[in-house]
Amino acid sequence: SPLSDSNQFCDAGIGYSESTCGVASKILLKGGTVVNAHHQEVADVYIEDGIIVAVQSNILVGDGVKIIDATGKYVMPGGIDPHTHLAMEFMGTETIDDFFSGQAAALAGGTTMHIDFIIPVNGSLSAGYEAYVKKAKKSCMDYGFHMAITKWDETVSREMEIMVKDKGINSFKFFMAYKGSLMISDELLIEGFKKCKSLGALAMVHAENGDAVFEGQKRMIELGITGPEGHALSRPPALEGEATSRAIRLAGFVNSPLYVVHVMSIDAMEEIAKARKSGQKVIGEPVVSGLVLDDSALWDPHFQTAAKYVMSPPIRAPGHGKALQAALSTGVLQLVGTDHCTFNSTQKALGIDDFRKIPNGVNGLEERMHLVWDTMVVSGQISVTDFVRVTSTECARIFNIYPRKGAILVGSDADIIILNPNSSFEISSKTHHSRTDTNVYEGRKGKGKVEVTIAGGKVVWENDELKIVPGDGKYVKMAPFNYLFDGIEKADSEYLSSLRAPVIRSKQTS
Ligand code: URP
Ligand code: ZN
Ligand code: ZN
Ligand code: ZN
Repeated sequence: SPLSDSNQFCDAGIGYSESTCGVASKILLKGGTVVNAHHQEVADVYIEDGIIVAVQSNILVGDGVKIIDATGKYVMPGGIDPHTHLAMEFMGTETIDDFFSGQAAALAGGTTMHIDFIIPVNGSLSAGYEAYVKKAKKSCMDYGFHMAITKWDETVSREMEIMVKDKGINSFKFFMAYKGSLMISDELLIEGFKKCKSLGALAMVHAENGDAVFEGQKRMIELGITGPEGHALSRPPALEGEATSRAIRLAGFVNSPLYVVHVMSIDAMEEIAKARKSGQKVIGEPVVSGLVLDDSALWDPHFQTAAKYVMSPPIRAPGHGKALQAALSTGVLQLVGTDHCTFNSTQKALGIDDFRKIPNGVNGLEERMHLVWDTMVVSGQISVTDFVRVTSTECARIFNIYPRKGAILVGSDADIIILNPNSSFEISSKTHHSRTDTNVYEGRKGKGKVEVTIAGGKVVWENDELKIVPGDGKYVKMAPFNYLFDGIEKADSEYLSSLRAPVIRSKQTS
């Protein structure tokens, strides 16, 4: 990485009249095409003190305003990544990107907010929350939290309520895989879905059948397949499809909305398509790696190259990615995350003799916006407005922070990017801002480049330079009862009235 922590902190006021680092508190974006999820138009955008205060043509301003010419470029809401793991302790190590380096990478790629997963400490939600509050202190952009549920008892149930009502968390993730560590039972899944529903919190699942994965891993080891390819072979799409179907059916049984994270296979996607067609409230999140990569590199003869692609559910055979892209373009899947969860080559080497010990996870925070633009918009599969929807707006709606986030509207937070469709990007670990020493998108080039990122009303990325300050990022509290909960009560009462009267039976005599 070309930037160490220390030289990412810019000197106070360089290039600006204000004394605060990186700040121009008044900014005018002139002449760009302003894009929201449902509309685009050529307009100026005027920002003051971190908030968008005007969106209209020909805004006139006086002195002391930084003016950025956006003519011929797109002015869009900054990306929101619904799925990251920064500073996560996992598989015997800790992700190499923390809240500062991960967010630096995000900002350089046009993402201005992310939602990270708090992992409870020994099952304790409050201890997990406190730990993540500490980890996030160095944040240079806005962030929110989901929380994982890894065991079940009265305390967990009570703490879920505290998290929702006091701490601003409105979603909980249940791992159906990682047997022996994070994996939970169907019984817990049902209890968890019920509790989520009563709190208006969104239930999320990592959908793979963990018992079957365990069996698949044993099978590979017995066959002598110990390399990274064993990872993919041990947990085929059927196991993701099965767990996705099970989670959907159990959520349907409880009548709670469901969010399926990192949809990686046709099998899982088709379960979501079927459920949505029947009217069930299911959200499907593909991640960039699943959309644009395939599993071929897992057979690479160099361990380091192959191991960097190990994540769960696995990156699939060619064909799955294309199908996921089509599902995204037709609305079967709704928003794109990254599952950014980086381990460097040394950490990946923990599994040099046994694929089961390779820490699971890939990069993507910096690359998501560019790769979705190039793969989906440049290819003609989705419109520019759709791009805004799947990278920002839909995430803001689902996690109930719209239109503060995910929109360029008067009163919204000034989290904005300027994308030049005539420029181009190229990805390399030599130039990326993540701390990891590899990149699963190494060498990829494409059209479109995020030239400017504005986060919280400050220009933090311009001329290929970051100007970021640890501590500038704010925690964004997220309220329960998003739009998916509309109509839930009605469906419950219809269910109750549909139950036929119980039969009164007399004692049998013969
Ligand atoms: O391989 C992955 N996905 N690592 C992060 C943890 C998870 O399952 O999301
Ligand atoms: Zn500065
Ligand atoms: Zn997961
Ligand atoms: Zn994840």
